[in-house]
Amino acid sequence: MTQEELFKVLVAHCKEYGFIFPSSEIYDGLAAVYDYGQMGVELKNNIKSYWWNAMTRLNENIVGIDSCIFMHPRIWEASGHVAAFNDPLIDNKDSKKRYRADVLIEDFLGKIEEKIEKEVAKGRKKFGENFDEEQFRATNPNVQRELKKYNEVHEAYKAAENANDLAAYKQIIVDNNIVCPISGTCNWTDVRQFNLMFKTSMGSTDDTANTIYLRPETAQGIFVNYLNVQKTGRMKLPFGIAQIGKAFRNEIVARQFIFRMREFEQMEMQFFIKPGTELQWFAKWKENRMKWHVNLGMGAENYRFHDHEKLAHYANAATDVEFKFPFGFKELEGIHSRTNFDLGNHQKYSGKKIQYFDPESGESYTPYVVETSIGVDRMVLAVLSHSYKEEQLENGESRVVLSIPAPLAPVKAAVLPLLKNNEELTNLAQKIMDDLKYDFNCQYDEKDSIGKRYRRQDAIGTPFCITVDHESLEDNCVTVRDRDTMEQQRVPIAEIRALIDKKVNLNNLLRNL
Ligand code: GAP
Repeated sequence: MTQEELFKVLVAHCKEYGFIFPSSEIYDGLAAVYDYGQMGVELKNNIKSYWWNAMTRLNENIVGIDSCIFMHPRIWEASGHVAAFNDPLIDNKDSKKRYRADVLIEDFLGKIEEKIEKEVAKGRKKFGENFDEEQFRATNPNVQRELKKYNEVHEAYKAAENANDLAAYKQIIVDNNIVCPISGTCNWTDVRQFNLMFKTSMGSTDDTANTIYLRPETAQGIFVNYLNVQKTGRMKLPFGIAQIGKAFRNEIVARQFIFRMREFEQMEMQFFIKPGTELQWFAKWKENRMKWHVNLGMGAENYRFHDHEKLAHYANAATDVEFKFPFGFKELEGIHSRTNFDLGNHQKYSGKKIQYFDPESGESYTPYVVETSIGVDRMVLAVLSHSYKEEQLENGESRVVLSIPAPLAPVKAAVLPLLKNNEELTNLAQKIMDDLKYDFNCQYDEKDSIGKRYRRQDAIGTPFCITVDHESLEDNCVTVRDRDTMEQQRVPIAEIRALIDKKVNLNNLLRNL
């Protein structure tokens, strides 16, 4: 199965097993908006707990807040979003479809890279053990031709991006005959800027209504509460404020399932520091955040940093944590050194003094900020795409299993009486369920054969299945099956809780950080 096919299968699986549904589905859906189902919401909440606890419990100098989606419209002028939160868009005149000019160019570059890798793979096959990849890349005429093209386009693209030159974007598209995937033509409009913020109005009548925006990031809610938290919490620099909440962006190209949505959730932390220390803290947070990711056990090789060549208007250093999604390495989290841009501008626009009095040096200054910002939905997609596996079993059967890191699994254990119509078995199973449900999210299932029930639990990633059989009535033991190894062991009922807890307790993950 190609990665593309696998991705399609994953999207269907997410729907079939209650993880993620297209929003408003009975009205044919709403583009790039998705709802979380009964399994999805549990997974999402577990991811949020892992992040929230890692930030606010493990760091005594980080506290959380929950600010509103609606904020004063001047905030978005101060933050630069009204003037500069734009994407370059271009329309194809034949298909009438709209695209992001930068994405069209990046996809084109991606295709050149693919061609190069295909040539290298051909070479590897042809020369077998004697294959010298470095030499092949440096001398093969096809690779060299494609590489030259790649470098030329990449250079022109970076220049257009840095100069924010919309005409140059179009020129690259035309010069390289980049066509619309729908119409197949190169009949393009000029490139225009498109602001990504959703607008609405607040007020009782139209003439008194104010235009306000749905926040495109949660970060500004933290900045405008900096003074409140610093004063009421008697916080001393360095300290951080964490927040989880919804953000909204009118994305032009909204595809790849929950990777790029119009309504999504962010987990952001702004770390306030003394000016001049920002690059040390930036390095520290890069390290911390990578550790948080790798600690989940989804393979260190599936993450990498991508340092930004072009910095946002507010940053003096920035990097992405990229994850290997089925469609390649893509941004999962951003870490930005935001200087004093935001607090400084809010001071200017609000007219209120936003400063920190440093008791050690006796001076007052506007703190600098290092931000970590991760999309909850992208994290859900990372976990699901890494976990989805179709396995061939020794007995000739196959199974679909989600090997979700156990502390994040939506259901931790399933309690299964061997027979549905045996009251003794169902009563004991129900008793075990009632006992475990205070500690873990459990499912009770008595329908169908045990084999089918195991398959259902594998498909939602349940780490443990607990089967109550006739012997259980005699020896007070149950059969516990492990999702990953499929091994079964007899366990005294009194020991089940400890066995499950050892594997699924979030604190064990947190302790490794
Ligand atoms: N406060 C900084 C900020 O918002 P960003 O790089 O624009 O930075 C941070 O966004 C993270 O939010 C991204 O790394 C990504 O995980 C998530 N994100 C951004 N746009 C998204 C979208 N349209 N859909 C889903 N997640 C998104």
